[in-house]
Amino acid sequence: MRGAAGGIGVTAVQLAAGQGASAVAVTTSSAERGARLRELGATHVLDRTGEGGLDGGGFGEGGPGAPAGFDVVIDIVGGPQIPLFLDQVNANGRYVAVGMVGGQPPADFGMRLMDAFRTSLSFATFSADTVSGPDRRTVRAAQFADAARGTLRTVVHEVLPLDQAARAHGEMDAGKVFGRVVLVP
Ligand SMILES: NC(=O)c1ccc[n+]([C@@H]2O[C@H](COP(=O)([O-])OP(=O)(O)OC[C@H]3O[C@@H](n4cnc5c(N)ncnc54)[C@H](OP(=O)(O)O)[C@@H]3O)[C@@H](O)[C@H]2O)c1
Repeated sequence: MRGAAGGIGVTAVQLAAGQGASAVAVTTSSAERGARLRELGATHVLDRTGEGGLDGGGFGEGGPGAPAGFDVVIDIVGGPQIPLFLDQVNANGRYVAVGMVGGQPPADFGMRLMDAFRTSLSFATFSADTVSGPDRRTVRAAQFADAARGTLRTVVHEVLPLDQAARAHGEMDAGKVFGRVVLVP
């Protein structure tokens, strides 16, 4: 999972680990953030390039039990490094773009995707906007129940009054936030 330390990622990591994924590799910008992701279920912590393990047990360093490739990549980052991660998807694997905090992919992105066709790679986008209201309510109810049981953790970086919204955005832009900032009206 690329960009796992954000609001989407901290939940997706827990869901993957909770559903029995044999390995959950994450990208992040520091070993400290990686340690927090491990507490949520990550098994391999990579730097943002996906090449170097931040804690000696990452994919890039071939640590104990490191996977040789990924069956599913969930990508919140996008940006110029998408091809690096496309190249690490296993045959018949699936790459799902859900965000673009790192910007646009490179101009030849479509060619890189077509070059990979012999691996039967699936590339998809996903937006919660296209999930129907009833399905959304069903998932939300299940996740609230999991949160009440303590099997799904909310990760709140900070709770601020609404008039501190600019400060919250500043902290997010500076990369200081892990999880979510909650603004209280
Ligand atoms: N698909 C949907 O339904 C849906 C719903 C809501 C939002 N979105 C999209 O998802 C994105 C926001 O998700 P979010 O709130 O989870 O993300 P976020 O908290 O803004 O960022 C997630 C993480 O990405 C890493 N990151 C930030 N900039 C990066 C860069 N340039 N290169 C590599 N890593 C970078 C940071 O972690 P580290 O510092 O630890 O690397 C950050 O904590 C937006 O693009 C938004 O449009 C999609």
